[in-house]
Amino acid sequence: MAATPAGRAVKRLVVLVSGSGTNLQALLDEIERTGAEEYGARIVAVGADRTGVEGLARAERAGLPTFVCRVKDHGTRQEWDAALAEAVAAHRPDLVVSAGFMKIVGKEFLARFGGRFVNTHPALLPSFPGAHGVRDALAYGARVTGCTVHFVDDGVDTGPIIAQGVVEVRDEDDESALHERIKEVERRLLVEVVGRLARNGYRIEGRKVVIQ
Ligand code: GAR
Repeated sequence: MAATPAGRAVKRLVVLVSGSGTNLQALLDEIERTGAEEYGARIVAVGADRTGVEGLARAERAGLPTFVCRVKDHGTRQEWDAALAEAVAAHRPDLVVSAGFMKIVGKEFLARFGGRFVNTHPALLPSFPGAHGVRDALAYGARVTGCTVHFVDDGVDTGPIIAQGVVEVRDEDDESALHERIKEVERRLLVEVVGRLARNGYRIEGRKVVIQ
């Protein structure tokens, strides 16, 4: 088994995507740049809840195994959740990263991956949770917004916060311009946080995440 410079095992990451996958690409690029041993982790598979997305194409170009688990292929939401958990578990991840994965996972998934399922959200939680974090911050008239990397719990974007990045809202911003500036900060933050979690280990104490 490969080891980090500190002699620890290189962690296995499964990344979940639903869209363009630029956060996934940032992780891939950093692991390529530093080497998995130095970074502390490598991506072992990429999953999606839909076919035909650029995130999956990025994984394929990187030579990674991919899987798709669509809600509509399952009788109930619970069955979908169990199938997703099974598909992820097949790759034996240490950490699962939701990088633009636009689905709320259920009980079975959290029973297996709770405490090691990281999400990135394009707003400063607890403000503007949900599927439209950028649009909602803009509509509210917030002067600063940003991104939050957090562990997933059974609420919508309510889990313990690991790190946040701040982005100023400009008068001329529309949703797309603001989201692009948030994503520049978000990609750097996600790469930094996942690497630190993988290399250093961490513990979750109530709402606090302590990276060792
Ligand atoms: C990211 O900004 C991520 O925070 C957001 O989707 C984008 C994915 O970009 N996720 C959510 O809004 C989840 N509620 P990417 O596909 O280019 O990485």
